[in-house]
Amino acid sequence: MKDFVFSNTTKVYFGKDQLHHLSEEIAKFGKKVLLVYGGGSIKKIGLYDKVIAELKKADMTVFELGGVEPNPHHTTVNKGAALCKKEGIDVLLAVGGGSTIDATKAMAATAKYEGDDCWDIITGKAFVPDNLPIVAVLTLSATGSEMDIGGVISNVELNEKQPIFGPTLRPNVSFLDPTNTFSVNAYQTASGSADIMAHVFDVAYFTDQEEMDMLTRMQEEVLKTVVKYAPVAIEKPDDYEARSNLMWASSWALNGFLFSGVSQDAIAHMIEHELSAFYNITHGHGLAIIIPRWLTYILSDKTAPKIKRFGVNVLGVDASLSDMDGAKAAIAALEKFYFETLGLQSRLSDLGIDDKNFALMAKKACSAKGKLVGFTTLTPADVEEIFKMSL
Ligand code: NZQ
Ligand code: ZN
Repeated sequence: MKDFVFSNTTKVYFGKDQLHHLSEEIAKFGKKVLLVYGGGSIKKIGLYDKVIAELKKADMTVFELGGVEPNPHHTTVNKGAALCKKEGIDVLLAVGGGSTIDATKAMAATAKYEGDDCWDIITGKAFVPDNLPIVAVLTLSATGSEMDIGGVISNVELNEKQPIFGPTLRPNVSFLDPTNTFSVNAYQTASGSADIMAHVFDVAYFTDQEEMDMLTRMQEEVLKTVVKYAPVAIEKPDDYEARSNLMWASSWALNGFLFSGVSQDAIAHMIEHELSAFYNITHGHGLAIIIPRWLTYILSDKTAPKIKRFGVNVLGVDASLSDMDGAKAAIAALEKFYFETLGLQSRLSDLGIDDKNFALMAKKACSAKGKLVGFTTLTPADVEEIFKMSL
């Protein structure tokens, strides 16, 4: 495996009685805070009031930006960044799921940019090495944004969804209270769980690079955790053990540890981001539809042993099967988990998607290098075929 540097600087407060530390943590960054949240779920669950009480306790001057969209828009990011500049904001506080935290990260960077459009930074036209400090209160277990260096922003005018990365975009502090996810509905719980699994698959598990056995086994443990607890959380939304396992799995799937020494394109993600860019679908659901078709498309003597290993170690597939039969059984078991156990619809056509944009989306998915390089190399024609198989 490749040499690597590991550093994760996010300070995590995990558990149900930790929010009282918010006042002391936020005050370390200054006096003016921009509170960022989504469409209102934090008000419904009473979290907004608790957060405001903490900010008052710290004697902060509070500015607010609500209404961050799922698959957050670059125009919303620009609005937040402009507010930061106008009011001289010292720190941003994201309270919500991945979309809210991602938008906040992009605002934090754009606030340090002399221009006013985050899309310049996201597309590499401008380089901004710095950002305002970020504190996060997570309400949905899925993306890992609470502990990672990335965010994903949508430009709806261009039908594009692009990542923003930077080592300083990792939240300085994250509050992970599983009780804040009790209100997440079955659909978002299922989609978020599929997203956690997809991070493990995409960043390191399905790879053609040399692996470290300890990490491969730990990746399988994270996958097994999701397989065990996602159905429990769907059945009993206030099950603290299930929600806490999903929450910590979400953070660890993408906080850098599991993919130490492996660097590759996140293939399923690159394909899915085109779906949510064109059709504004839920990211994790898109991944659940794509991944079994992707694994089927690339199934060969070379890929079968690892796919079978996943099936045997994570989903209980019979170890005595041949590599090829074991891999096929693994894919079938994964489909059963996504589409029966988690109850997600299985086809793009179920989401009202047809094939008219597939060729363009496939080209865009490969646009950085003209291909996707990971477990296998995929050309735009391959990606188009995977879209068709998912229809
Ligand atoms: O907007 P509100 O009202 O808060 O409602 C949200 C939203 O409708 C709701 N929700 C969140 N917490 C809730 C809740 N409802 C009830 N109770 C709660 N406690 O759930 C809906 C979806 O929220 P969203 O934040 O969009 O979901 P998620 O966390 O899955 O984030 C998805 C976004 O993250 C990006 C995705 O592409 C997508 O744009 N990703 C970010 C990554 C990263 N930062 O590294 C990596 C991922 O692969 C992913 O691409
Ligand atoms: Zn994801």
